[in-house]
Amino acid sequence: MIEYRNNIFALHGDGFTCLLRVNRYGLLEQLHFGEPVSAEDADAFLLKQGLGWGTSVLLDDSDSESCPDTMALAWSGSGRGDYRQSPLETGNVTDFRYADHQILDGIVPMASPLPQAKGAAQSLVIRMTQPGAELYLHFSVFGGVLTRRTVLKNTGGSPITLHKIMSFLMDLPGDYKMTTFNGGWIAEMRKNTLPVRQSQVVNESVTGFSSHRHNPGFLLSELDATEDAGRVYGFNLIYSGNHYAAAQRSLQGLTRVMQGISPANFIALLQPGECFETPEAVMAFSDAGFGGLSSKMHRFVNECIVPKYWQYRPRPVLYNDWEGCMFDFDQQRLLGLAKDAKALGCELFVLDDGWFGNRNDDRAGLGDYAVNAKKLPHGLAGLAKKINDLGMEFGLWFEPESVNIDSDLYRAHPDWALTDEFEPLLSRHQLLLDLTKAEVRDYIVENVTATLDSANITYVKWDMNRHSIALGSKAHDYILGLYDVLRRIFEPRPHILLENCASGGNRFDLGVLCFGPQVWCSDDTDPIERLTIQENLSYLYPQSTFGAHVSASPHAQTLRTTPLCTRGNVSFFGCLGYELDLKHLLKLEKEEIIEQIAFYKQYRKVFQFGAFHRLKNGWQVSDGPIVLAGIFRKLLNAAPGYETLRVKGLEPNKRYCFCSHPQKLRIGQFGSLVKHVAPINLNPNGIVLRTADRLITLPDGYQECCVSGSALMAGIRLLPCFRGTGYDKNQRTLTDFGSELYIIEEESTCENA
Ligand code: DGJ
Repeated sequence: MIEYRNNIFALHGDGFTCLLRVNRYGLLEQLHFGEPVSAEDADAFLLKQGLGWGTSVLLDDSDSESCPDTMALAWSGSGRGDYRQSPLETGNVTDFRYADHQILDGIVPMASPLPQAKGAAQSLVIRMTQPGAELYLHFSVFGGVLTRRTVLKNTGGSPITLHKIMSFLMDLPGDYKMTTFNGGWIAEMRKNTLPVRQSQVVNESVTGFSSHRHNPGFLLSELDATEDAGRVYGFNLIYSGNHYAAAQRSLQGLTRVMQGISPANFIALLQPGECFETPEAVMAFSDAGFGGLSSKMHRFVNECIVPKYWQYRPRPVLYNDWEGCMFDFDQQRLLGLAKDAKALGCELFVLDDGWFGNRNDDRAGLGDYAVNAKKLPHGLAGLAKKINDLGMEFGLWFEPESVNIDSDLYRAHPDWALTDEFEPLLSRHQLLLDLTKAEVRDYIVENVTATLDSANITYVKWDMNRHSIALGSKAHDYILGLYDVLRRIFEPRPHILLENCASGGNRFDLGVLCFGPQVWCSDDTDPIERLTIQENLSYLYPQSTFGAHVSASPHAQTLRTTPLCTRGNVSFFGCLGYELDLKHLLKLEKEEIIEQIAFYKQYRKVFQFGAFHRLKNGWQVSDGPIVLAGIFRKLLNAAPGYETLRVKGLEPNKRYCFCSHPQKLRIGQFGSLVKHVAPINLNPNGIVLRTADRLITLPDGYQECCVSGSALMAGIRLLPCFRGTGYDKNQRTLTDFGSELYIIEEESTCENA
């Protein structure tokens, strides 16, 4: 609900209130953003300026409270007495004052191709003016989340040059830590936390894309906030291009936070009468710690960001041929893999890179769409039909934004590639196409849609494998071009499951999630790396958006060897897929995968859409009476101590059935210990033991009990771990990189009760 009375705006959402005041100078003050409060209490949030501060520039020399530099503001100008960072730079002084406002049901649609949040909302638009320009501050309340964006209109007679315009600005009283998520290829989402002091903390991407270097989402938390308690703010941007966020604490103890398009190389010329609109920023507050904040963000993404068709719609278990085949395939090999994938339980077969043009490695073919007839003599339609006949859906990879110099497209239209007066700089042997050009966008839309309509294709992996060059000030227009293309292709085909990808997680953002509900988190599918990547994504994105695949071990990117159960257990907490050469699997591995997929399907809804919680030693998802908890181990310590599983969010007085998800141990895991228990002296490197390892498994410790919700939330003790004193079936033989899953179900619904 949004109210306005006596110059006070109160925006109430689920679990928060945002209080704004138009002060006597027409500046917009940020009185409060946090716990739900009443508009009647607005006075309690006024800052007590007293006699003011030294070296202040005052709007009214007789009023010590008129210093813009020490006000808590929701917008500010530049060159007019507020010396903190400004949200707007035009090369001139800016000083917008309140003019009027509008409160409306729903949202105000974007005028440009920028995506925006959708769903039940109420909006407030505050108009502020200065000579020759109008500024519209848009606020929308979506359940537990507030969004903001800014529109600048040139109402004067000469052009305005925009160098910087933020989507929002907010001053919050108090001390905070800023958490950002940084990284690079195969090392996405490293969590980085810094105290916010008087020097700015900045989170910015200048690669042309939202980037794996600096995800646009970030957190501000009070110093004592924990996973389950304390005040935490989360911010994100519905945008896939260069972004910028900064936090800075003033001497007076106000933390200024802002986010928007990166000002680096940004310039927009607004002719008289023209408007510029920023991407929409997203913000949420929780007084229940990081976990509380994440659950608000998850709900918002599931309900207001991903396309309506895919909201809470189960995602198929997929098989992707990339890591198994790379470019080396033909129809026969693909169909062999598809048959195997089907037998394991996969529901969707995805043909990745290499199906078109002369693309037999990554040096040629990007930009072309003619199907490679040598590899696929019956075309995509023929292959899709055969895969459909096996009882699977068919999905296809594209990389439409790029071009290889060795391609028919480049030979025909070299000027369509993004270049400048300097020598072109290749990355993965490719250039980007200039999506600011209408003819380039039309070419992509025509070719992708013709391909999609030529066969029964129900899934698309949209890849993009380089950082930009030669974009300069066109970076924003490129992203608008991308959104135009995505909208034209996918809005008329809502049933196609679009998974965005950019060398893994180089474009994991709310912008692309508005067009397709999944993003490939990382080319790093090593489950131990994924513990970091998926856990850190979970601060701001729900697990339904994570493409999570089981791949081969040792892993291609880390050479780490991990148990198949851990590869499965980690991928379960996302949209499960398999991406390895199935021909090389042992029989016992196939049996394990069959069991994994059947288990995942049984609990798919809980894994994909259940409430996600980060636990001390793992993750939990829950949906009504069912809770699934995973425990993950990195490195084993000798003689591990007692371990407790403490789950969250149960009904204290209800009774629950608790049991382990049964797992098997490979004999080879015991190495030379086997010879001590076998009747004959076996060589641990000999053929007998190597063969036994491929055929025989031992059950791992299995635990079950019936217990109250309060006991489970207090923490129940788990079976003992392997301590070097021998195998026991009542023990958990968790080695390095081991993991376990527990199923907890209300007794009233549990079949085994
Ligand atoms: C990069 C992606 O992240 C991979 O999953 C794969 O699709 C390759 N591109 C194909 O070239």
